[in-house]
Amino acid sequence: MSSLLSIALMAFLAITSTASPLAANSKPSTTAASVPTYTPLTPAEIKALQTELLLAPSYKDKEKVLFPPNNGGSANNVSFQFVPNNGPAPQDGSVIVGSVDSIPGLIGTNVAAAIGFIGPCGLNVPHLHPRGNEFLTVVSGTLIGAFLLEPDGPFVGDVPQVAMTLSNYTGMLFPQGHTHWQFNPTCEQAVFSAAFDSNDEGRFQVAQTFFSSMPDNVLTASLGNPTFLGPKQLDQLRGIIPSAFVVMVDSCAKACGIKTA
Ligand SMILES: *[C@@H]1O[C@H](CO)[C@@H](O)[C@H](O)[C@H]1NC(C)=O
Ligand SMILES: *[C@@H]1O[C@H](CO)[C@@H](O)[C@H](O)[C@H]1NC(C)=O
Repeated sequence: MSSLLSIALMAFLAITSTASPLAANSKPSTTAASVPTYTPLTPAEIKALQTELLLAPSYKDKEKVLFPPNNGGSANNVSFQFVPNNGPAPQDGSVIVGSVDSIPGLIGTNVAAAIGFIGPCGLNVPHLHPRGNEFLTVVSGTLIGAFLLEPDGPFVGDVPQVAMTLSNYTGMLFPQGHTHWQFNPTCEQAVFSAAFDSNDEGRFQVAQTFFSSMPDNVLTASLGNPTFLGPKQLDQLRGIIPSAFVVMVDSCAKACGIKTA
């Protein structure tokens, strides 16, 4: 019975594989020299591809746009190189995101990804992704990852936080819409790879968002109208809140002997 089933299955696979859409392209080859390498899309190509993909109703239609029959069987339109070969080495503190903005081929999927380089004592500041869950894996070095839980009932005291030390290919979930941060507590660089279940996960930095556009009296009232926090102090605060994704934590920098400005 089971051998009959497997013969039937193999026959089915043989038929479907010759009828697969790949057969329309040149036969795939497996030597590195004959399989194309990634070529970055120009901003104009990205724009054109986004427009064409948004006009293609089904995923099958999108595939016709992404992989034209005469393209040599290349997956270039669904690939992305986070760090270009001939560009400068990624700087500590850089987070490179591959989402619909940089990879139009993600249109029609619920996927985005990021690679991040966090230098010694670097803090990926508290932020949240409004449209995507994130799973972040440390591929070198060590990061502490943490997120705040959803408060249970009316606010009393601290919102609880959960945290984990991540190293050696350990990864952690950062749920959609939850405020979270990652901190490199060591004197060595850390590198992470992150995946999102949205092609357009977005990012809000918590401190910037809170202190940016709201009228002073809305801010001070929501903080309980403290007497030490008037319009002047709020302006001072706004002047020093960094716009960078990653900032240096002073106490750690001191311990690592790193000079901060
Ligand atoms: C990428 O998509 C564009 C738009 O359909 C197409 O012109 C181009 O040939 C594609 N590139 C590759 C390598 O398939
Ligand atoms: C990483 O793995 C190596 C080899 O398995 C081990 O020696 C080392 O202690 C691990 N590092 C951490 C920070 O867990």
